[in-house]
Amino acid sequence: MIRAKILGLGSYVPPRVVRNDEIPFLDDQHVPQETRQTETNDEWIRARTGIEERRYVDTAAGVTTSDLALEASRRALEDAGVDAKEIDCIILGTLSPDIHFPGTAVFLQSKLGIDGEDGCACYDIRQQCSGFVYGLEMADAFIRTGKYRKVLLVGAELHSNALDFTTRGRDVMVLFGDGAGAVVVGAVESDDEREGVLYTHAAADGSGAWNLYLKVFDISKSPIVHYDATAKLDAEQQYPQMVGKKVFLHAVRNMVVATNRALEKTGLTWKDIDWFVPHQANLRINEAVVEYAEIPKDKALNTIMWYGNTTAATVPLTIDHWRKEGRVKKGDLVLSTVFGAGFTWGSAIFRL
Ligand code: ACO
Repeated sequence: MIRAKILGLGSYVPPRVVRNDEIPFLDDQHVPQETRQTETNDEWIRARTGIEERRYVDTAAGVTTSDLALEASRRALEDAGVDAKEIDCIILGTLSPDIHFPGTAVFLQSKLGIDGEDGCACYDIRQQCSGFVYGLEMADAFIRTGKYRKVLLVGAELHSNALDFTTRGRDVMVLFGDGAGAVVVGAVESDDEREGVLYTHAAADGSGAWNLYLKVFDISKSPIVHYDATAKLDAEQQYPQMVGKKVFLHAVRNMVVATNRALEKTGLTWKDIDWFVPHQANLRINEAVVEYAEIPKDKALNTIMWYGNTTAATVPLTIDHWRKEGRVKKGDLVLSTVFGAGFTWGSAIFRL
């Protein structure tokens, strides 16, 4: 039978490292100022989130999300030994698209040089921090049904240009970083149920939608974009809004349930699984999930300390980071659980 297999993996983060102690002094162009722009500090950020630093693009250089996606995709294709021309479907998860429409996947397709009249299918998916698991579920289904043979699945985020660098936005601003991760998922003939993608489950609860959102525009209004002339900009429209504590509690609860469900449905135990790769929103969330789901601590992989929350990119970025460090190896079995805005969540078990 046809099974979906991860053929290659790659990630990219911009070179600029932004440490916690630099954050209070950055203006909205990310340029350090002599005076404080935001009341926050390294101690608060580390204690509440575990984050030490994150990466930002060079705003003056005009980088886009599809540029970050391109770098990660090139690396994943090279790792897989697959030519971009062989890709017959792109699935791109992002909450920070290049523009409102068209979707970012078509810009990536062009940048990869595989656009044109025979260009492959391009999907943008909007599941925020759950993007990778949702995308893997789609790629797995497309491949198992024989619809596509080689799917490029990418999570890419350019957050830093859409954050509020003032005390008003500090609860959200300190969390996010820029980056991208990609996998090439391909069809293989195999009857071995422990090969490739073993399990995916995606879920959502729309009643949580207004606990974490970014408006930018409001389609019920004309014009759809309205900035208050007196305040220069409408902060609610311009920047992400979050009810942090509520998101935290829902994240822990749903990630624990989703993780246990993955094991129940597959009959696997932590003896079979090599690595737990949770979404990277807050180290405290991941520590709580590890504790409540009774996951062996040495199997949990985190990277939030160095990249912050890169939303749809966190899972492939974390796997690739630890692969470069020599911990994760080809053939390892990964259980990944994610949670994000929507609320959306899910989990997947796959062999690298
Ligand atoms: N620096 C200093 N002080 C701050 C900061 C900051 N960056 N942010 C908030 N504070 C202050 C608050 O104003 C508050 O002050 P007060 O007590 O005087 O009112 C105090 O710190 C505590 O604030 P809380 O919001 O209660 O802090 P909490 O412990 O809840 O931590 C956090 C906030 C880190 C945001 C946490 O709620 C969290 O991680 N939530 C979940 C995030 C998440 O999982 N997001 C989902 C994925 S993202 C996606 O899908 C796009």
